[in-house]
Amino acid sequence: MQIFRPGVNTVAKISILAGALVTVLVLNFLFVQDRSPYSRARAGIAVAQPVRFSHQLHSDQLNISCNYCHASANEYAYAGIPDTHTCMSCHSQIAVYSELLEPVRTSYETGDPLVWNKVHDLAEHVYFNHGVHVQNGVGCETCHGRVDQMALVWQAETMTMAWCLECHFAPEDFIRPADEIFTFGYEPPIDQAVLGEQLLEEYEINPEGLGDCWVCHR
Ligand code: HEC
Ligand code: HEC
Ligand code: HEC
Ligand code: HEC
Ligand code: HEC
Repeated sequence: MQIFRPGVNTVAKISILAGALVTVLVLNFLFVQDRSPYSRARAGIAVAQPVRFSHQLHSDQLNISCNYCHASANEYAYAGIPDTHTCMSCHSQIAVYSELLEPVRTSYETGDPLVWNKVHDLAEHVYFNHGVHVQNGVGCETCHGRVDQMALVWQAETMTMAWCLECHFAPEDFIRPADEIFTFGYEPPIDQAVLGEQLLEEYEINPEGLGDCWVCHR
């Protein structure tokens, strides 16, 4: 007696083949596409801006904290870009005749915001959250490089999926004490392995499942 119609076997074979093909395609997508020069094209290239705002001057020389302009990074998903009022809190008194600041003064007078060009721009299908990282020991420098030394900002890391996962699979190799989040030029101690384990407990990070697809694709 035949339990399945003869056609079913062929259907099963085709679906196994199709399944294998999809797997190969997905793996190819993730591991080949992810490393292509295209996805890294932005890394390392300074982005032109409507005003020559220099992090090197404001952060390193003037020692203004990142928080002065990007405070929401501590708590919220977006770090945010400061508005014209934030600039004018100083520049209504400092360098008032500077030509470089002309667009800032115009924006202040007209109320039209300055339109900054994005340096980082994750794909729409990726969920990211600053606050979670800042509160769990990941320094700004770990993801953005030496912003404090950049006249114009560029993307220092590839921001590919493989790059995110390198840390999500082993956060203990990268996390820092809470008072080093805003440190630039941080040197991890030689016993990072020991410190890392300690910090996992302190921040109550459970690396189990941090690489699951739904964490970043929701
Ligand atoms: C006085 C205000 C100010 C301070 C202080 C400041 N920033 Fe910025 N930041 C800006 C402005 C304005 C932009 C948008 C223009 C640009 O990209 O240069 C920006 C852009 C950025 C970007 C790129 C955003 C994008 O488009 O993807 C990063 C990353 C960044 N800042 C990190 C930092 C870090 C880290 C610090 C501390 C070392 C810091 N900033 C301090 C004003 C500030
Ligand atoms: C906490 C104070 C402070 C804030 C906030 C601030 N700046 Fe400045 N900025 C300074 C100081 C101080 C200088 C150096 C002035 C000088 O050299 O005479 C400067 C210099 C500059 C210069 C160079 C001016 C020149 O002619 O050389 C630009 C451009 C500039 N700032 C843009 C901005 C923008 C855009 C913002 C807002 C995103 C901003 N600044 C926010 C303090 C500040
Ligand atoms: C775990 C990595 C990571 C850390 C840590 C991190 N950032 Fe970011 N940052 C990103 C990514 C990824 C983006 C792009 C987000 C997007 O395109 O949606 C970004 C974007 C930004 C932007 C552009 C505006 C925005 O909110 O998208 C600014 C400004 C910024 N970061 C500043 C900071 C500052 C300041 C710190 C430290 C307090 C920091 N970042 C820590 C990964 C990080
Ligand atoms: C240097 C380490 C590091 C890097 C790089 C990193 N992450 Fe994370 N990520 C963490 C840690 C640590 C946590 C917190 C885990 C916890 O709370 O248990 C986290 C948590 C998250 C969460 C969970 C947020 C929530 O709501 O619970 C998301 C989403 C996330 N990361 C996305 C990303 C993406 C997307 C990238 C790449 C653009 C990235 N991360 C890069 C270390 C990192
Ligand atoms: C830690 C965060 C994170 C996790 C976890 C994660 N992804 Fe991604 N994924 C990303 C980022 C970031 C990109 C965007 C890469 C880019 O633009 O180069 C991405 C892109 C993709 C893409 C589009 C291909 C591409 O290169 O843009 C696919 C498909 C994908 N992920 C599938 C998965 C699957 C399946 C899993 C679970 C095994 C997973 N992701 C887990 C962060 C993550």
